Amino acid sequence: MHVPRHVAIIMDGNGRWARDRGLPRAAGHRAGIKPVRLTVEECSRRGVEVLTLFAFSSENWLRPPQEVGVLMQLFLEALDREADELAAKGVSLRFIGARAVLGAELQARMAGVESRTAANTGLKLIVAIGYGGRWDIVEAAKRLARAAQAGTLDPDSIDEAGFAAGLALAGLPDPDLFIRTGGDQRISNFLLWNLAYAELWFTEAFWPAFDAAALEAAFGAFATRERRFGKTAAQLKAERC
Ligand code: FPP
Repeated sequence: MHVPRHVAIIMDGNGRWARDRGLPRAAGHRAGIKPVRLTVEECSRRGVEVLTLFAFSSENWLRPPQEVGVLMQLFLEALDREADELAAKGVSLRFIGARAVLGAELQARMAGVESRTAANTGLKLIVAIGYGGRWDIVEAAKRLARAAQAGTLDPDSIDEAGFAAGLALAGLPDPDLFIRTGGDQRISNFLLWNLAYAELWFTEAFWPAFDAAALEAAFGAFATRERRFGKTAAQLKAERC
């Protein structure tokens, strides 16, 4: 089966999963850890190079402070609990997003696990926290503007590759497969630039119920898609011969 190099996931539906069981939303977020673990394991096993998970968007700061607190505490606990296992599996973990606004303790743990796993050669796991696709594009634009202002960059020389080099996922392949759980079919300000040619796959399943069969279905659907990148089917056939 043709395996995507980069899989990007919006893990949605934790709150509704909990509500359906008469549980507080926090229980849904806690139950969301298990499918994260499973997805990391399955992607490693299948030879996926990069897995990017949307854990907390720039807009999620607008949630009630109590829920934001629960999520931040959960990230901290998950990092403490899973870091050894991830390191042992050869996973390299990186975070993208505006991290200066996160708590000092969480920032320190994030930096610690990043440096500890940086040299690992297995799955590249990217966790987006405080991330927004528009924020990412604006940050890249600022970098270019500063370089132009300093006289080290000719604005007319800016091309797509040069712009992409300023984005959070610089140097990594674009996502091939985008998965969103929870039934909504939108990108919600995730990797706006990088998802340009991703194959989109949606499931009604809430994130805590996402399992190996669902992942298999997503990979199966991906394998059947013809990716033309703007070319015609005939051109692609000729290139394959
Ligand atoms: C969206 O569901 C989910 C989140 C905002 C949090 C995602 C976090 C986890 C899955 C926890 C573990 C993650 C890591 C990387 C350790 P929602 O709250 O929007 O659900 P709803 O749409 O049903 O309300």
